Amino acid sequence: MSTEATDDERLLRVEDLHVEFRTPEGVAKAINGVDFSLDEGETLAILGESGSGKSVTAQAIMGILDTPPAHLTGGRVLFQGRDLLTMPDEERRKGRGPGVSMIFQDALSSLNPVFPVGWQIGEMFRIHRGMNRSDSYDQAIRLMERVNIPAARERVKAYPHQFSGGMRQRIMIAMAIALDPKVLIADEPTTALDVTVQAQIMSLLQELQEEHNMGLILITHDLGVVADVADRIAVMYAGRIVERADVEDVYSKPAHPYTKGLLESIPRLDQKGQTLSAIGGLPPNLTRIPPGCAFNPRCVLARDVCRTDDPELLDVGPNRQSACHFSKEVLDA
Ligand SMILES: Nc1ncnc2c1ncn2[C@@H]1O[C@H](COP(=O)(O)OP(=O)(O)O)[C@@H](O)[C@H]1O
Ligand SMILES: [Mg+2]
Repeated sequence: MSTEATDDERLLRVEDLHVEFRTPEGVAKAINGVDFSLDEGETLAILGESGSGKSVTAQAIMGILDTPPAHLTGGRVLFQGRDLLTMPDEERRKGRGPGVSMIFQDALSSLNPVFPVGWQIGEMFRIHRGMNRSDSYDQAIRLMERVNIPAARERVKAYPHQFSGGMRQRIMIAMAIALDPKVLIADEPTTALDVTVQAQIMSLLQELQEEHNMGLILITHDLGVVADVADRIAVMYAGRIVERADVEDVYSKPAHPYTKGLLESIPRLDQKGQTLSAIGGLPPNLTRIPPGCAFNPRCVLARDVCRTDDPELLDVGPNRQSACHFSKEVLDA
């Protein structure tokens, strides 16, 4: 694209999102001003350690936060220019199905064991399209074929336990794309799978995206998974985006010390999908985020200003932003 889409033309735009969890232990500031946007056909990877707020961001977009304890305390989620967060419930239900769809982090365990998979896929069509049982099974077969499940017609009435993990994830993907969403959010879609199956699922998602020109949000803690697939990366830390850039820029020259640390993390072959972080220390307790930059206690570059002033997410190059007082130094390193 030679010109950037204007804000109103963005397929999805998340603005200044804030979510907190009010618990007996205190108020956990889970999301603290998250901003990003997504165009048609674009893949955005949201990357960050466990607990950084990736899933809560997705749940807020989907309007499925568990309230209480979660409370949406600010922000807008504009889908094709309209705010999903203030839309009347009825309209939202109608719109969100075909508009924005999600594959959940615990997808593999969320199929119902007592119903055939085709019945569960078909439910999308019975509920949202008023289809009868037999037609909904036909649609289920079509979708199972689309996500490359072998012998779909013979297996449409089989139960979830009769499928492998990879095949069950394909079934979850089939359900998520059933109503032709414009935006698909995939929350750690390959975490529970073997490396070879991971690659197959990623290429399936990519294929489906190209076919439908969907916007794809890929949530992951694993930099390795997204390198080949993502166009853009947003790195999250303690409920904020600390770096946002084109994928090649992040890999060749990170602009935030946290991103740099993630890139230096060592892949662990003995622990599927896990990485051993090269970054010392732990993410902050979100009920007590340190003053200044939330990353300062773990940051090798931290100086006085980092312990008092919270850095804003600012432009540090074409189409890239970083929230660090010393981004220039990181880039020049
Ligand atoms: N049910 C909950 N109760 C209290 N706090 C929660 C709950 N779910 C999430 N949180 C808070 O929100 C933060 C972000 O969680 P989450 O978005 O699930 O992280 P991840 O990046 O691993 O997907 C957690 O670190 C935690 O502080
Ligand atoms: Mg998560």
